[in-house]
Amino acid sequence: MRRYHVTTFGCQMNAHDSERIKGMLEELGLGEAPAQEDADVLVFNTCTIREKPDRRFAAHLAQARALKEREPDKVIAVGGCYAEAQRERLFSLYPFVDVAFGPGSIPHLGEWLGAGGLGVERSAFGTAEDRAFAGRLPRHRERRFQAWVQISMGCNSVCAYCIVPAVRGREVSRRPGEILAEVEGLAREGVREITLLGQNVNSYGRDVGSDFAKLLRACDVAEGIERIRFTSPHPKDFRAGVIAAMAECAAVCEHAHLPLQSGSTRVLKAMRRTYSRERYLRLVDELRAAIPDLALTTDLIVGFPGETDEEFEETVSAVEQVGYDGAFTFVYSPRQGTEAASLPNQIPEELKRERIERLIEVVQHVAEARKRERVGRVEEVLVEGPSRTDPAFLRGRTRRNTTVVFAGSAAPGELVQVRIEDATSTTLRGVELATVAA
Ligand code: SAH
Ligand code: SF4
Ligand code: F3S
Repeated sequence: MRRYHVTTFGCQMNAHDSERIKGMLEELGLGEAPAQEDADVLVFNTCTIREKPDRRFAAHLAQARALKEREPDKVIAVGGCYAEAQRERLFSLYPFVDVAFGPGSIPHLGEWLGAGGLGVERSAFGTAEDRAFAGRLPRHRERRFQAWVQISMGCNSVCAYCIVPAVRGREVSRRPGEILAEVEGLAREGVREITLLGQNVNSYGRDVGSDFAKLLRACDVAEGIERIRFTSPHPKDFRAGVIAAMAECAAVCEHAHLPLQSGSTRVLKAMRRTYSRERYLRLVDELRAAIPDLALTTDLIVGFPGETDEEFEETVSAVEQVGYDGAFTFVYSPRQGTEAASLPNQIPEELKRERIERLIEVVQHVAEARKRERVGRVEEVLVEGPSRTDPAFLRGRTRRNTTVVFAGSAAPGELVQVRIEDATSTTLRGVELATVAA
């Protein structure tokens, strides 16, 4: 049997796309190989959000090239956002790549790999009109009790730093009926937790006569789905209806990942985020008033062109004011073709480093204080498996999306009550309650 290996970079959307890529390759009769060396078809599902993933991919591709020099029959396929961003030059940059495809053309990958025989001809991409949801493809699910569900593709925002609209195209929503059928199917297969995925889930549905609040309510009804998550909501489109749906739907978890990016209204404007610091903070208040015990996480960028020390300090103070449970912090990375890449006053690397180090410290401090508040409480945990660092313990996640490492005997996929006994900035520790009673 011929075998494939998929290496995935980037966000959850890419991880989910990789499940579809694997499902499709399996339908073509290939089996999964444990490592790149063992595979006949090597797929790289790439990311290009910042320079770092570009560099990581380049290192991987150098290895793949060496493998192919030894075994010229190996097929190398490069997909995802980096491939799309470099579509004009990919084959000249990397002449040993056989197939290239953008995130919108995963459904065509099978044809391009040469149905059945894999007699690959150099082929690539599709046109914008070929863009199709991978949601109709078979999938190879990595986790038995948890699943991603794509609700839209593309993004209609114009955030000045961001390459995503250029590589994923305009936003298109999936039909609600199709999404619900998928969710119900997953529930029948034993899935208990779903994460709805879109670049901006809050703008879902305008093109298909629905909206995100309706979608949440419809998913909430699905029998067997105990937890509903979503990522990411854009603060500009977070309407009262969605807050009400979050508050009223039993399965929708008490967590919002709400990307702030910057705490300075001037910088937010330059980023074209279309909300101010004040409006964001009001939204946080509204969310917390409606959903007691809500966990909030965020994305932050330091060193956007022209960001002054004072403006950076506004990001720091916003973190303190909101009291995030966690945050992804990024050094601004210029992306070719985006508006911000050509702005004057790019910030020197050294200053960006200083700022991110300070920001990380504050984020950790604030997050640890939030985690400490959980000590002494009992949390519902969905068991994911043994702890990665100490297999004598179990690992799972709370509804508020915090990882818990705990002593207990539950099986993966079970929901258990865990008493929280200790906390760090990222993790809780505890004991399963049945075990406590025993
Ligand atoms: N569509 C999602 C995710 C976008 S990418 C959303 O809007 O929430 C994830 C994060 O990467 C962004 O929220 C942003 O914080 C960061 N990011 C995007 N482009 C970047 C760049 N050029 N430099 C640094 N960070 C960036
Ligand atoms: Fe990028 Fe902004 Fe769209 Fe998110 S909302 S994908 S940050 S353009
Ligand atoms: Fe995701 Fe990276 Fe593309 S973050 S959308 S895989 S550029």
